[in-house]
Amino acid sequence: MLSDDAARHLASGGALPEAIADAMTENVIAIHGLPLSVALNFRVDGRDVIVPMAVEEPSVVAAASNAARMVRLSGGFFGEATEAVMTAQVQLDDVPDAHDAPARIAPHREALLAAANASIPAMVRRGGGARDLEVRVIDADEGLVVLHFHVAVGDAMGANVVDTVAEAVAPEVERILGGRVGLRILTNLPLRRMIRVRCEVGADALGGAELADGIARASRFASKDPFRAVTHNKGIMNGIDAAAVALGQDWRAIEAGAHAYAAFRGSYAPLATWTRTETGLVGELEMPLAVATAGGSTGVHPGVRAGLELLGRPSAGELAIILGAVGLASNLAALRALAGEGIQKGHMRLHARKHEAEAATTTSATATKRGEA
Ligand code: MEV
Repeated sequence: MLSDDAARHLASGGALPEAIADAMTENVIAIHGLPLSVALNFRVDGRDVIVPMAVEEPSVVAAASNAARMVRLSGGFFGEATEAVMTAQVQLDDVPDAHDAPARIAPHREALLAAANASIPAMVRRGGGARDLEVRVIDADEGLVVLHFHVAVGDAMGANVVDTVAEAVAPEVERILGGRVGLRILTNLPLRRMIRVRCEVGADALGGAELADGIARASRFASKDPFRAVTHNKGIMNGIDAAAVALGQDWRAIEAGAHAYAAFRGSYAPLATWTRTETGLVGELEMPLAVATAGGSTGVHPGVRAGLELLGRPSAGELAIILGAVGLASNLAALRALAGEGIQKGHMRLHARKHEAEAATTTSATATKRGEA
């Protein structure tokens, strides 16, 4: 599955070469490690995938793999992703007659989209480019108007692409509307870059009808209570973030979008729900997910490159669906444990393993200090 470079990198322990680290961020003094694991048993859209995960919390990888094994018996996960469209915001203050702004922009729509495309010729050549624009009058009295430029970004995360667009079109927008240009930056709530992932799991695979009922009840609880919904969503993000970190994604952007979407309909809601069927459960996850398989650290970091190879070099849309599947599996595993024996038993077993490792490290560090090692 792996190129020679990727295999060598992983076999040698996966450390990031210092020169690459130094080029990635600033004031680098060392390399910070996290365990790189693989989640197993995932079948996504009819394809078996091995998912790299990097996370400090015990049981995340085991739980996701275990839930994926149960879901696999019913065919695995199935998903769809919208075209990868990111959205840039251009802020204008003190716009005169702000309530008319949409009508004043309308005749310039095609010219503004063309100007947007002219600023990103390479992306347009790759099939991306400006798809739409919206005018939002946020506060007519204050003249606060915001334009959204929706731009297809292919396999990139797209932040740089849409920020370029926002900066390029802003002077023309200001000329048309008057007022003063403010911020020109992407929104991390990319509502046109969504995934939907679905799976079924049999009650037998879960360990019985009572557990399936318990998971459905837990899902209803999350739908009715934001204090529970946020923890439910944290369980989803356990899987998504761990895979995102291993794959060099901007997990802060993913987190920001996930929670903003959860709160978007007015009260904070679960990103995934579980409903009882005659034979088991159906799980459904919907969220925005801006991930890349080109650009950013995906081409630079050898571990990320190896991770993408392990996944069979997916497109950004395919990667987003895989991450959604890992999120749904993590959620299922957490709810199954919570509805059954509770989370602590399994957790404590794995924590004990960590403490053994800690004790071993302390002993060997003490020995080294004494010159015994
Ligand atoms: C712990 O990292 C995640 C859980 O709290 C998620 C949940 O409660 O659904 C177990």
